[in-house]
Amino acid sequence: MKIALASDHAGFELKTGIIAHLGERGVVYRDFGCGPGETVDYVDYGARAAASVVSGDCDRAILFCGTGIGMAVVANKFKGIRATPCWNLFTAGVSRSHNDSNCLTLGGRTLSLEGAIPIVDAWLKTPFEGGRHARRVSKIADIESRNLKD
Ligand code: RB5
Repeated sequence: MKIALASDHAGFELKTGIIAHLGERGVVYRDFGCGPGETVDYVDYGARAAASVVSGDCDRAILFCGTGIGMAVVANKFKGIRATPCWNLFTAGVSRSHNDSNCLTLGGRTLSLEGAIPIVDAWLKTPFEGGRHARRVSKIADIESRNLKD
């Protein structure tokens, strides 16, 4: 599994810590930026990482901004992306088992590295339960393809 990573300046430090953790675990990743010392718009970086999941270059994404919220809003504009801001073990696990999350978003201003590592690990290892949750996820895909206006 190849993970797309991206951050803005507010998520950069947390992303750097998670990169070290993924490296220790042997997880393959691609970092779409930003780099150190830059002040950037999270939209630009989140969009690049989300697009890499849509294209199939990467399998999932982990995105970092100040809160994880902006990155989730951006990523969820991409067809097929289910981006979920997670802040503890419970939300990380359920985002996978119920929502089949393919994009984890984390807040560099709301989480420590010590708090984020178990969230990342749980998100990486928890399988989708399928069953009734597959029906619900497929209804989300239906909404995306119908482009409903009301
Ligand atoms: C950047 O200052 C901040 O607004 C951004 O990282 C994020 O929190 C957006 O959701």
